[in-house]
Amino acid sequence: MTLASSSNHNAAAQGVLSQFAATGVQTCFHGRHINPQILADLDGRNWRLADYEARGGYQALRKILGQDGKPPRGSTGAPGMTPDQVIAEVKAGGLRGRGGAGFPTGLKWSFMPRQFPGQKYLVCNSDEGEPGTSKDRDIMQYNPHSVIEGMAIAAYAMGISVGYNYIHGEIFTTYERFQEALDEARAAGLIGNNILGSDFNFQLHAAHGFGAYICGEETALLESLEGKKGQPRFKPPFPASFGLYGKPTTINNTETFAAVPWLIRNGGQAYLECGKPNNGGTKIYSVSGDVELPGNYEVPMGTPFAKLLELAGGVKNAKEGRTLKAVIPGGSSSPVLPASIMMECTMDYDSIAKAGSMLGSGAVIVMDDTRCMVESLKRLSYFYMHESCGQCTPCREGTGWLWRMVDRIHNGHGRQSDLDLLNSVADNIQGRTICALGDAAAMPVRAMIKHYRHEFEALIQKNTSQAVAPQGATQATGRAAAQA
Ligand SMILES: Cc1cc2nc3c(=O)[nH]c(=O)nc-3n(C[C@H](O)[C@H](O)[C@H](O)COP(=O)(O)O)c2cc1C
Ligand code: SF4
Repeated sequence: MTLASSSNHNAAAQGVLSQFAATGVQTCFHGRHINPQILADLDGRNWRLADYEARGGYQALRKILGQDGKPPRGSTGAPGMTPDQVIAEVKAGGLRGRGGAGFPTGLKWSFMPRQFPGQKYLVCNSDEGEPGTSKDRDIMQYNPHSVIEGMAIAAYAMGISVGYNYIHGEIFTTYERFQEALDEARAAGLIGNNILGSDFNFQLHAAHGFGAYICGEETALLESLEGKKGQPRFKPPFPASFGLYGKPTTINNTETFAAVPWLIRNGGQAYLECGKPNNGGTKIYSVSGDVELPGNYEVPMGTPFAKLLELAGGVKNAKEGRTLKAVIPGGSSSPVLPASIMMECTMDYDSIAKAGSMLGSGAVIVMDDTRCMVESLKRLSYFYMHESCGQCTPCREGTGWLWRMVDRIHNGHGRQSDLDLLNSVADNIQGRTICALGDAAAMPVRAMIKHYRHEFEALIQKNTSQAVAPQGATQATGRAAAQA
């Protein structure tokens, strides 16, 4: 990239930021977080190494390498922490992966075959394509060293010497920011060979992604990183045994890595106590939709949804009578929940799962009482149809069927049989595909029909009461019905 095009990118980014400011959209330095660990004390300018170190940055790395001169917590031995001690601390903290599934991070790290004689890789998933999610780009833009330090600690714990951060293809300025931070860390001896004078080596590289949603799926990401078409692989084998270039690989989300330095600095127990049992620490929620102050909010795991809504300024135009209708609590692939259920939930993996949805990536999409659920589902279904990589038939064909059916209901051409057909197509996608994109397309359909069936029926009845059935017409079924 030339200097000129780089400055064009920066100018474009400034334009976008000032547009956000003009519309009142918040990023992450609004001061309305609760006990933040990753987004604490950020102002948009203090992202450099010196700023990060002033906030306690790289102390965790120094601690595990024994540079703080202190033995590990609860021990009288030599300074520093062994890889096993680091993994045990992460397990004790109850840190769960922030990329969507909430898989326990310490457990994932323990799957890495540390004694494998060949190359092992560490990969950060900064693809962040889930509609509604915008936290990882803020972390990389405004606190990039937290990701670098978290990756270095993870690499030490798993005996890995090479890592990549795969950054979404459409956020070039963020890629440049991360690269600049990486250069600073390398120059300071925090990344590279013999880190801080120890025998620990870790080479970290920024990799530019290709802007496709499916490249966020971990095995599609690995394919893309290898320079191939970003299509998911069959699992097993899992990346821990067959990952990048066929070598053992651990993949975590950006926010997962960014959470690690605080956890190691303050200890697993302190991290766990910040959240609730089995859901340690804080979580960054990207709150969007019909709220007064959309933005990224970092709050302890287990914070009531009602509190999060209040931080985001409440439902937009509440004074004009708008009320909360529904919430998609964890990104577009998580099932919608009606207001009455959401207002009883706390924001953590277990509470949202118990309510019938998923915390996912933490993208909280708020919908007010004017939202048409058929229209909302139509937009979601279009997205999944568009993003399907096409490898498996149920997903490639089924996502198109779903969209076409919802589209015709929305356009007033729905049939009485469509709701059963929609559920049946969703059933035939879910659990029958190579990757979870198929599930992600099916789950919102079933949830929308479950909670808002009356809205679909109202549109269908409007159509059938207006329609004059042609003589001798028979009910089309299956693919013919879906494609009509
Ligand atoms: C279609 C699809 C898209 C995904 N996109 C992302 C993404 O953008 N970022 C991410 O971290 N995980 C994404 N995931 C989840 C990853 O496959 C993987 O589980 C995650 O990166 C693991 O990190 P964690 O353990 O820290 O959560 C996606 C999964 C699917 C099925
Ligand atoms: S489920 Fe969809 S996106 Fe995933 S591999 Fe199959 S076709 Fe591709």
